[in-house]
Amino acid sequence: MQRNSFYNRDIVSIKDIDKQDLERVFSYTDKLRNFTPNEKTELGRGRVLGSVFYEPSTRTRMSFEAAMASLGGSSLGISDPKSSSIEKGESLADTIRIMDLYSDIVVLRHPLDGSSRFACELSRNPVINGGSGSEEHPTQAMLDLYTIIKEKRRIDGLNIGMIGDLKYGRTVYSLLYGLSYYDVKIHLISPVSLKIRMESLYEVKNKLRIQEHTTLEDILPKLDIIYVTRIQRERFPDLQEYENVKGSYVIDIEVLKKAKSDVSIMHPMPRMDEISQSVDNTTNAIYFKQAAYGKDLRAALLALILNENIS
Ligand code: CP
Repeated sequence: MQRNSFYNRDIVSIKDIDKQDLERVFSYTDKLRNFTPNEKTELGRGRVLGSVFYEPSTRTRMSFEAAMASLGGSSLGISDPKSSSIEKGESLADTIRIMDLYSDIVVLRHPLDGSSRFACELSRNPVINGGSGSEEHPTQAMLDLYTIIKEKRRIDGLNIGMIGDLKYGRTVYSLLYGLSYYDVKIHLISPVSLKIRMESLYEVKNKLRIQEHTTLEDILPKLDIIYVTRIQRERFPDLQEYENVKGSYVIDIEVLKKAKSDVSIMHPMPRMDEISQSVDNTTNAIYFKQAAYGKDLRAALLALILNENIS
């Protein structure tokens, strides 16, 4: 049996995970999806997931909790800082130390870059980054890559467009780091004011083939995947800047008509108006499947972190 390199490990950044480890999670996700419910509940029985979410979440928090339940474990946590002692002024450090006492794994979402790295220095138990500032969302990147493999049967050779808020969108940075292990062409489509922060990609910029665009039209017919992101009102220092760019891109049926017939539309979600609901029932829309794969992949990741002798 191969050594389980995820056992008792923090998941702070996708940069800490090499291609072999990524593929280990994908292959264990495939394996776990074929387990019976009884086999699954042996993997987390009696273990507790503690979630500390300083920012709202639907998919990340709930998929982790659903994943932990599927492994026979339980979850507790802070989903709204206002309902916890954070509201009284308790520090992130003390909140993590306390959650560490009550749980076996901590998942943290926080508006500051570096928050998860800080938390894992304080926690005896593993910490998973559930989204840190505009910096990283490593488990989202893992589930995005897994979704591409499941839906396209490969990653190498694809033309991948990423569109929307590329400046503040943490999922984009984690995904680009993950894609740097593969032979893909990346097309980044955004308003000038929301262009990617190239300095945040310096470790991989020579490995990625990137072209930047401000309009979708010219590149649209070449794309195999369009990874759509929300323009995130909450991350703009100046709301006028948000007003200037909101609604810049909308994927609707007319756009799909000009794309490859098998183009896949992905979105980490939540989706606002950047993907028309008319797209939801097309075979191109895979964003709900993506959210479902997220639960499977997070269950596999939790199982690998909790159990030394599995692979
Ligand atoms: N994709 C994602 O992080 O969604 P939530 O903000 O709902 O967790």
